[in-house]
Amino acid sequence: MERIDLFPTSFFSFKNTAIDNVKVINDLQRYSDKLKTGNIISSLHSLHDKPEFTELFDWFNSCLEQVRIVEKYDCDRFEITNSWFNVALARSTMAINFHRHSMSFFSAVYYLTEGAPTFFEDPVIHRTQAQIEVLRFEYSPVEKIYPEPGKLIIFPSWMYHYSAPHLENFDRYIISFNSLPSGRVNYQIASDSKAYLNLKEFPND
Ligand SMILES: [Fe+2]
Repeated sequence: MERIDLFPTSFFSFKNTAIDNVKVINDLQRYSDKLKTGNIISSLHSLHDKPEFTELFDWFNSCLEQVRIVEKYDCDRFEITNSWFNVALARSTMAINFHRHSMSFFSAVYYLTEGAPTFFEDPVIHRTQAQIEVLRFEYSPVEKIYPEPGKLIIFPSWMYHYSAPHLENFDRYIISFNSLPSGRVNYQIASDSKAYLNLKEFPND
C-alpha cells in the first residue's frame, strides 16, 4: 500500500541563536504604554518599524522571502503589515483564545522565551466536524508547537490557533506579525486575477 497525502498544510520553522532575546524583552518594555489586557497582555504598538528591532525584523523578512521563493509564490514579496508582542505573566494561567489572523496571508510567532505551547487546529473541517468520527491512535485534531527562544514559526493566517495556560515561574514572551503580498501579485501566472499592491505603513502606530 502506498499512502498519498494530498493538500497538506505547510508550516515553516526557523531558528536564530544570534538574537539576544533578553535584550529584546528589555527593549519591548518601552512599548508597554499601550496595552490590551484580557486573557493575555498584548502590545498595541507595531514593532516592525521601530529602530530597536531592525535586526530582528530583517531576519523575519529574510525568512518570509525564503518561504516565498521555496514555495514559488507569484508575488514580488511578502511584506510585514502589523506586529506586536504578547506577555503571559509567570504562573498566571494567561492564555490566548482560539483565533485566526484576518487581513493577513502569512502570520508568524517568534518565541523569546519558553513556556506554554501554541496549539494549531486541523484545518480540514470536514474531518474535525464530521458527525461520525472514528478515533485514531496517531491522529489529533490539534498539534502543538513548543516555544524555544529564537524559534520563528511562519504559518498560513487562516490556521486557527490558541496558546495553553501559562503555568511556569517566568513571563512568557512572544512577538507576532502579519504579512500581505505586495508589488506585482499573480502577474506571471494569472491573466485576470492579478493586482499591483502598494502597501503603506499604518500611521501613528
Ligand atoms: Fe495568533
